[in-house]
Amino acid sequence: MTDQPRTHRSHTRLHDYSAVVERALDALDLDTKARLLSGQDMWTLPAVPAIGLRSLVMSDGPIGVRGGQWSAEDPSIALPSPTALAATWDPELARRAGQLLAQEARRKGVHVLLAPTVNLHRSPLGGRHFECYSEDPLLTGVIGAGYVRGVQEGGVGTTVKHFVGNDAETDRFTVDNRIAPRPLRELYLAPFEHIVKTARPWGIMTAYNQVNGATMTEHRPLVAEVLRGEWGFDGCNVSDWVAARHTVRALRGGLDVAMPGPRTVFGPPLAAAVRAGEVAEAEVDDAVRRVLLLAARTGCLDGAPPAVPPADVPQGIDGRAVARDLARRAVVLLRNEPVGDGQLAGEPAGGAAQGADPAGRTRRALPLDASVMRRIAVVGAAARDARVLGGGSATVFPEQIVSPLAGLRAALPDGVEVTFATGADPRTRVPYARDGFTLRARYLAADGQLLAENAQFDGQVQVMGSLPDGVTRQSLHAVELTGSYTPQRTGGHTLAVSGTGRLRLTVDGAVLFDDQCAPAGGDPFEAFMHPVEHRVTAELTAGRTVPLTLRFVPRALGLGEGLDVLNFALGHREPQLDADAEIEEAVRAAAGADAAIVVVATTEEVESEGFDRTDLTLPGRQDELVTRVAAANPRTVVVVNAGSPVELPWREQVPAVLLSWFPGQEAGAALADVLLGSHEPGGRLPTTWPARFADAPVTTVTPADGRLSYEEGLFIGYRAWQRSAVAPAYAFGHGLGYTDWEYESLDTTPDSVRVRLRNTGRRPGREVVQIYLAPAPAPDAGAPERPDRWLAGFAAVEAGPGESAETEIPLPARAFEVWSEPDGHWRRVPGVYTVEAAHSIDDIRLTAQVTSG
Ligand code: BGC
Repeated sequence: MTDQPRTHRSHTRLHDYSAVVERALDALDLDTKARLLSGQDMWTLPAVPAIGLRSLVMSDGPIGVRGGQWSAEDPSIALPSPTALAATWDPELARRAGQLLAQEARRKGVHVLLAPTVNLHRSPLGGRHFECYSEDPLLTGVIGAGYVRGVQEGGVGTTVKHFVGNDAETDRFTVDNRIAPRPLRELYLAPFEHIVKTARPWGIMTAYNQVNGATMTEHRPLVAEVLRGEWGFDGCNVSDWVAARHTVRALRGGLDVAMPGPRTVFGPPLAAAVRAGEVAEAEVDDAVRRVLLLAARTGCLDGAPPAVPPADVPQGIDGRAVARDLARRAVVLLRNEPVGDGQLAGEPAGGAAQGADPAGRTRRALPLDASVMRRIAVVGAAARDARVLGGGSATVFPEQIVSPLAGLRAALPDGVEVTFATGADPRTRVPYARDGFTLRARYLAADGQLLAENAQFDGQVQVMGSLPDGVTRQSLHAVELTGSYTPQRTGGHTLAVSGTGRLRLTVDGAVLFDDQCAPAGGDPFEAFMHPVEHRVTAELTAGRTVPLTLRFVPRALGLGEGLDVLNFALGHREPQLDADAEIEEAVRAAAGADAAIVVVATTEEVESEGFDRTDLTLPGRQDELVTRVAAANPRTVVVVNAGSPVELPWREQVPAVLLSWFPGQEAGAALADVLLGSHEPGGRLPTTWPARFADAPVTTVTPADGRLSYEEGLFIGYRAWQRSAVAPAYAFGHGLGYTDWEYESLDTTPDSVRVRLRNTGRRPGREVVQIYLAPAPAPDAGAPERPDRWLAGFAAVEAGPGESAETEIPLPARAFEVWSEPDGHWRRVPGVYTVEAAHSIDDIRLTAQVTSG
């Protein structure tokens, strides 16, 4: 077994598939060719047995591989959010994640992964911020390239998405993003360019939005000219789901595949357009060639050897181990101050905890020393019910989740008591039933015949695209979510039912709800995704298992033509104190403990796909909770479980703050590794964290008259913060470890820099050396406007205590260039530059000069 990346031959470029592709193409008639460019259902393209072509299967992406079903029936490994992957600043780790995902894809019969997402963090309000990597195009490109390499080394294709400018969600289907040539090239296209040129992706996904007046599925200048022409992309262009709108314009714009089916602008409408003389069959042939090439590369076309020979595919990767490693490497330790007073229960009077200074009272809050602790108070709804992944199309269903509470309980020695208090639960909807429930979904015909039966991960039954085997839209009459629940607490349990149709809930033989439920508004997508919730209370006794069934008879939603969709749910919440009493309970627990660990989180309602955020505050009363707990216990450690920036107004009131992102299924195990010090928190911020939303440089994500002007030009993220009068809470690149580093020397040539540094602390550690380039002030008025500094390269080093390490980091030619209009080319800007070797953008350790000719 190995989970280490192996060295692989570069396969994709070695094969010349042209003969086999031409042979297959020649054997197809117009209707079949047109059909091949259109999804046959939610996730697949049609097979053509006559030419030995199997059906290509696609699946989201990016933190796992969901597979053909939108359900827990076939669980998936859930890795941390893409923001977390970027926080590792480690393309090799991204590659290993990619190899694991390819293994998952092969297990599920998936040929193309709908990932990675490489749009930029233009504004912290962006709803899919968690799903993108960074505010910096270089970091985004390098992590994305590592990921694509890993997936494709496993013989599975990628679609790098969303090409381009899908940096926010508001009106995403129609918004026209107005982006000037320089920011378009230097920021938004840059990650795609880097990935296309270095990792050769087999696919790309064109976005919903428009850029400068043309919708991206019809954008000939950017797709045909830039992507294919300038960069040499030879892969397949797949539309985002329902993004293709016009048969001829989409084909002419360079789109190859319209998803999802069965009805799209390609297929029969495309064949008709050829027959009507609106488009030439030769143009259809070009698109079909690219689909056949994708099929050949992924092993779906007879006579074509797959791009990666099966014997070379990385095998036996331990998914849980990768998930755990990645989660802890991604944790960003934002703050770790000494805890000055307060004797620990297990500490001898006047004695020092391990790692303390001789005075014995300046030990930093982390790592926790479990050997001197008797009781730890764990606080926060997300401590027990971790938010492990962001919502929307990135959803996968892991087999199991290790919560922070469970992870800590498992890792702490027996003598340490762990208490739990919710403190504040920010969720406005009742969470899906999970802990203590055993549930299955039974799909029934009108005569009661059982058509199919699945085990359920939680209380949500959701189908997007394909019903379980044996079930059709025509044969399905009702679905029953049925099983049992064993309560841990006696009292009034809240049960919530939701779904558009008839819902009947029976608990322990009593019918608690039975009604026809209608959607709240006229939007069928909303009615599907967020059906109205109806709550009832059930008096239950701790330890006494009760049977329950939620029966659902769906009502047609008018969603998509011919699409199989289904969504209903059972929610559950344990008996709760009132909100004030919840906080009091947490404060009491913290006051009586040696340390308090508070997990704060965003919710599905404030951070997910399909909408943007409106502010950066933590929902509910979580800020108040932290302040109150911190006042009760000086050793309060806050874990921020969010995919994108949130305000942390109390950050100076607590000695330690860690950012766990959406940490994936091994959340709690990884967190315990870091809190207890068996591993260093290795992450560095891939994006600046504002202290207050009002300070953020770009806050406009709402179009006016259908247009969103990127009027800040080049100045997003740290490029803007550098010019701002206010400092952020935490700068780009920031992140502490458990040791210290001294940067000893920096030698530079115009092509590369060499940095030597020493671990001056007492533990082994890993440092991400960041190289920034700062141009001398512009000598003349005609010089291009540029940021004060930008990231030009980075590399990680590892060293034991007292050891030194050295790294050589290339300075790419692009780092010295700007995009020049109207002639349209990259232009090197000559002059003197300061090369900075830095721990973060606001912690520059060494500088040197370099002159660019
Ligand atoms: C998302 C894509 C995703 C697709 C399929 C779309 O709504 O924007 O990222 O791949 O759905 O789930």
